[in-house]
Amino acid sequence: MAATEKIVILDFGGQYNQLIARRVRELGVYCEILNYAAPMAEWADAALKGVILTGGPNSVYGENAPRLGTEIFRLGVPVLGICYGMQLINDLLGGTVESAEVGEYGHTLLTTEDAPLFEGVGRETVVFMNHNDRVSRPPQGFTVDAYTANCPVAAFSNAEKGVYGVQFHPEVRHSVEGVQMLRNFALKICGCAGDYRAEDMIGRMIEDVRARVGDGRVVAGLSGGVDSSVACALANRALGPDRLTCVFVDHGLLRKDEAKQVLETYRSHLGLNVVHVDASERFLDALKGVTEPEQKRKIIGALFVRVFEEEARRIGADYLLQGTIYPDRIESGMGGSATIKSHHNVGGLPKDSLFKKDHIIEPLSLLFKDEVRAVGEGLGIPREMVWRQPFPGPGLAVRVIGEITREKLEALRACDAIYLEELKRAGLSDQIWQSFAVLTGVRTVGCMGDDRTYGWCVALRAVTSDDAMTVEAAELPYPVLKRCVSRIIGEVPGVNRVVYDITGKPPGTIEWE
Ligand code: XMP
Repeated sequence: MAATEKIVILDFGGQYNQLIARRVRELGVYCEILNYAAPMAEWADAALKGVILTGGPNSVYGENAPRLGTEIFRLGVPVLGICYGMQLINDLLGGTVESAEVGEYGHTLLTTEDAPLFEGVGRETVVFMNHNDRVSRPPQGFTVDAYTANCPVAAFSNAEKGVYGVQFHPEVRHSVEGVQMLRNFALKICGCAGDYRAEDMIGRMIEDVRARVGDGRVVAGLSGGVDSSVACALANRALGPDRLTCVFVDHGLLRKDEAKQVLETYRSHLGLNVVHVDASERFLDALKGVTEPEQKRKIIGALFVRVFEEEARRIGADYLLQGTIYPDRIESGMGGSATIKSHHNVGGLPKDSLFKKDHIIEPLSLLFKDEVRAVGEGLGIPREMVWRQPFPGPGLAVRVIGEITREKLEALRACDAIYLEELKRAGLSDQIWQSFAVLTGVRTVGCMGDDRTYGWCVALRAVTSDDAMTVEAAELPYPVLKRCVSRIIGEVPGVNRVVYDITGKPPGTIEWE
């Protein structure tokens, strides 16, 4: 997928790098996050309009600090350093960095000067700081453009050379006017047109799939989620149903009636060639006795690939299409940050896989979720499908805590269906990013009628978010929660307690496992 103009974000391991990319794309500018060591020859092409150097956990004077050469300043495009990126610029150009006596974390009042990066920004504005080190002496020829109580050089620039640095994080929402600063950089300083729209890339993405596959045949994993649906619909446009077989694997870990709904919708609405493989026995057997979350994911991921391979052999396909999106790659540790959970569709292929590495087609791997949805709508996929809540590849396996059994799955499905039905009835579904029930694995004592019960404790979760990277627990109305509790305990045998999870992300994650 090539854009006519782009900004490259060089990743030094900062926590908010994905947010930088999101903000830049929201401004209508295509951008990519690359490892800081990616060879310049691979990305410094005619489309390049600017470079952003991200934050990171290191100190520029640290032994293994990631560094760049000064050729970055000779590319002829503006460079913006954020946090560590600013300190690196400073060091490369002969300034000094010091460890501040008092670090700055969180909301901080910034005073700005008249400077290109701060056009349209208040003289005083709140920004998000997260640093120990700071610039003590800027390089020669640089002006100081902003300061805070504890950071005398909170932003600097050499406009003539096109080099800018900020100590704070404009990409984080807490930086109240951060978007305006990024807009100034991307549109005014770099001169980008700001006309990138993911849906305008559909034609090119279709061409890319055609070019990659040649006259080969493709098997695709279709889960019913937004990502795989959009990937399949796109590939179907590129290849047609004769060369694209979508495999819907029922791993026995789906929600109530899910298989039926997915098959109906995809066959009739999208005209996809869908094969339904009921592999529930195999999956549940392989998961017998397994309690550790990562092990569950690995088993499921590996078995998924085996099932796809069997289908591929059957139909003579040697390409595998997946709905991997940009955050999956980044969250799986592609950008140098810690791996929290291994998503099965990234890096889950065994070494002896039938599918060669260059035969894995991931047409959405550079898109964010909202962009995938825009592409989905552009492809004519019905709205209710495009706006479906995300559902994890390992399905209910990561929502049954501890060992998975058929009885637990059945109880969880029933609880989940009641919960979703009540949220829908209360008109709350549209405001929620994800909502689901979890079978906690904890059994508790209760009393029903005059009898003692010893049953499962179920947790309900509902979160709001716009990217799944950070979430808040939804503040559901008490009466709705109470109705769910009484219906679940009354209607689902074996469950005698219901709790509501109000943990955000961080410190939690959306799924319990
Ligand atoms: P967490 O739990 O990490 O989830 O906050 C972030 C988003 O990813 C979904 N999720 C997965 N999706 N395979 C997937 O395809 C997985 O292994 C997986 N684990 C979590 C989760 O539902 C949420 O939308």
